[in-house]
Amino acid sequence: MNFEQVKKTTESFLFQNYSREEICFQRGHREFLYDLDGNEFLDLVAGIAVNALGYCHPAIVDEVCLQAKKLVHVSNLYHVMEQAELAEMLSSMTPSSLNVSLFVNSGTEANEAALKLAVKHTGRSRFVAAKNSFHGRTVGSLSATGQLKYRSGFEPLIIPGFDFVEYDNCEHLKTAVNSETAALVLEPIQGEGGIVIPSLEFMKTARDVCDERGALLILDEVQTAFGRTGKMFAFEHYGIVPDVMTLAKALGGGFPIGALMTSSDISKAFSPGSHGSTFGGNPFVCAIAKSVLSTIVAEGLVARSAEMGRMWMSQLLSIPNENGAVRGIRGKGLMIGIEMGDEAKRLQKYAFQNRVLVNVCAGGVVRLLPPLIIGQSSMKRFSDLLTLFVSTSS
Ligand SMILES: Cc1ncc(COP(=O)(O)O)c(C=O)c1O
Repeated sequence: MNFEQVKKTTESFLFQNYSREEICFQRGHREFLYDLDGNEFLDLVAGIAVNALGYCHPAIVDEVCLQAKKLVHVSNLYHVMEQAELAEMLSSMTPSSLNVSLFVNSGTEANEAALKLAVKHTGRSRFVAAKNSFHGRTVGSLSATGQLKYRSGFEPLIIPGFDFVEYDNCEHLKTAVNSETAALVLEPIQGEGGIVIPSLEFMKTARDVCDERGALLILDEVQTAFGRTGKMFAFEHYGIVPDVMTLAKALGGGFPIGALMTSSDISKAFSPGSHGSTFGGNPFVCAIAKSVLSTIVAEGLVARSAEMGRMWMSQLLSIPNENGAVRGIRGKGLMIGIEMGDEAKRLQKYAFQNRVLVNVCAGGVVRLLPPLIIGQSSMKRFSDLLTLFVSTSS
């Protein structure tokens, strides 16, 4: 098929629930994607923070081939060696109070499981979440999502019992979390909400109020984990440890897997039958996730993300901004947001014309989430592009 045929077939046979760019890719290599005509694009989106190792990393390709020839799926009716090994590996990367994993297939499912776990563990059914948050599209996760644009049209379906606090407002937290709260659900950095970084004080208060009121602290690290923010997990920036952590995206390097991690004590709230998934943690995806994690560690990608992020931020911050097109730049590691208001969409289009892919979130924030293996010349290419864009914008 050529692009026009793909587009026509998409319009005829697929739900029209995505607004897609006018492009279709056939292959990728490192931080580059190639369209159906072979044109090369620099990808600063990485499948929305999924492709941490870039495209066709040999570690993933080799593992895919190896495991596909051995065993892809058996279900959780049996012991799954690769699942046990992945859980052990994750446990070695986390504090001892997050040493038990449960595997699912996506971020939203990890959050669903976390909400159920909190109800079972505490015997309470109310939750506190943050305004401007994003936790996924299924009914439970959408109930925790504090943005009308995602909830609108589904409201009667959404689970009642969620109270929303201002992100980064400690006083709100102190009044909202009470003795009826099963869990406080937060992103350590709001991703979809526009790369919003909370204060140290807010995250410490979150930990404290949960301890005081007997609620669980669930941190949604779906977008932030595995080096994205310059730490293995974003909670490390704040010197706190959540009771439950949810994971997905980068964990599978492009193959669908989600996880929640908690203490062995809290995990006991789920007994056989409390929760489950047919595909969750199958040998194929767990083998790949193991090789993703070993590669992140072996290639020092967490420290690299911190260093590259620092370098890129200072490059971006030094761009002359006389016209005020850039309203703010914030980020940690290789999770960077450039606030541009209405100019964000125009920059995205300009970048696309120059074969650079960026994403716009929260209306006016250009979000950079490149593969963690991105080269310095690619970062410079975007900085130069932004410099030119800003100098010509009125
Ligand atoms: C913080 C956060 N939680 C949950 C999700 C949902 O993950 P998934 O799309 O894998 O269900 C996302 C997706 O963007 C996310 O950023």
